[in-house]
Amino acid sequence: MSATSKSIHGEWSSRFAFVLAATGSAVGLGNIWKFPYITGENGGGAFVLVYLLCVVLVGLPIMIAEIMLGRRGRQSPVNTMELLAEQAEADPNWHYLGWLGLIAGALILSYYSVIAGWAGSYALKAVTGSFIDADAENIKLLFDGFINNPLQQVFWHSVFMLATMSVVARGVQSGLEKSVKFLMPCLFVLLMLLVAYAMVSGAYQQGLDFLFTPDFSKITGQAVLTAMGHAFFTLSLGMGAVMVYGSYLPRPVSIAKTAVLIAGTDTVVALLAGIAIFPIVFANNLEPGSGPGLIFQTLPIAFGNMTGGYLFGVLFFVMLVFAALTSSISLIEPAVAWLVENKGMTRYQACIWSGFTVWFLGLGTAFSFNIGSQVKLFDRTIFQLFDYLSANLMLPIGGFAIAVFAGWIMKTKDSEDELAMPHAIVYQVWKWVVSYISPAAVFLVFLHAVGVI
Ligand code: PHE
Repeated sequence: MSATSKSIHGEWSSRFAFVLAATGSAVGLGNIWKFPYITGENGGGAFVLVYLLCVVLVGLPIMIAEIMLGRRGRQSPVNTMELLAEQAEADPNWHYLGWLGLIAGALILSYYSVIAGWAGSYALKAVTGSFIDADAENIKLLFDGFINNPLQQVFWHSVFMLATMSVVARGVQSGLEKSVKFLMPCLFVLLMLLVAYAMVSGAYQQGLDFLFTPDFSKITGQAVLTAMGHAFFTLSLGMGAVMVYGSYLPRPVSIAKTAVLIAGTDTVVALLAGIAIFPIVFANNLEPGSGPGLIFQTLPIAFGNMTGGYLFGVLFFVMLVFAALTSSISLIEPAVAWLVENKGMTRYQACIWSGFTVWFLGLGTAFSFNIGSQVKLFDRTIFQLFDYLSANLMLPIGGFAIAVFAGWIMKTKDSEDELAMPHAIVYQVWKWVVSYISPAAVFLVFLHAVGVI
């Protein structure tokens, strides 16, 4: 397949469609569920600052690189890396980078789906009025009762996996593209509403201070690693999701501008979620470090007590499910594309195989909060282990390799041609950052995390 031909899986209908799909992939549970709770666990401001630095210095340049590799290769990440390595006369083992991505995607989706299931169940709870007039204590009891029930966990996880696979089965344009077009703007509006509630809830300033006043004494090597891992996670980098979406991108679209737009939107949504949540945490004397349940134990209080909260609560959790869905489809797409290309499967068959595997893996997370909470490997529950392995290790390693490939292995004339930046200086800055700064930053963070520096 030549570098300029179309992908066999189809193409986005326009640049706008790609931006929406890639933003849909980036904006998800990572922004609204994970960012607030890991910020809470890692002490607030300093963590946020490190995360923002990672987005700019590591995330953005690697996003440009990853989209570029995808569009150049026009196939699943495994085959794209094989083709590009061949074109660059490099070691064919580069295709293992694609494999690392497939595995990371499966691990992430397995727990992502369980948490998206929580959002689904909370949408239903909002419909049945479970939050009305509830205080922090009722809401906590509701949450604990829910995650302690293994059957409910499996049920909602199964519903979400089915939804994901049925969108993916419909293909690039009618499945992926349609579902994101109207959901993203709605989510944004609802978040603004929650921010407005947080402003009047009493502890607004305290919430802002927590998020934006850095206290570096709270930052450890592991916290820096988590912040960097999260920059990859939230931008959907390092595992081929952005690469495979890039492979469906028509040729004349500017990659760099598009990447800035996606990363910018993603960051704004995460910060808005933080600004909405922490004032509620402090106004109700909740613990910022209370873990994965944080948004499920805070936002329902807001919905239960604000005017119009019934309606907004329903809308919010429905939107959250959709935000998760537009991300989950990108987590499985590299595997589906590979099965179609290499195993001769139809898209439909590929969805059944990959979906079932991920569903099965997800049982580990579904039980991590109840009957399996004592099953620990390396001192972590299955959920914690999958999250740590994928987000903190596999994505940064994948991102590091993408930066090295784009900066050092790929021929300059090829990357220059594919990026087609209007000013030579912009290309040179990108090339320099992706060759030196981004890989060095990832490497230093790893050294810091293991205590070498
Ligand atoms: N970026 C998504 C989120 O923030 C998660 C994701 C990670 C999606 C990796 C694709 C690849 O929710």
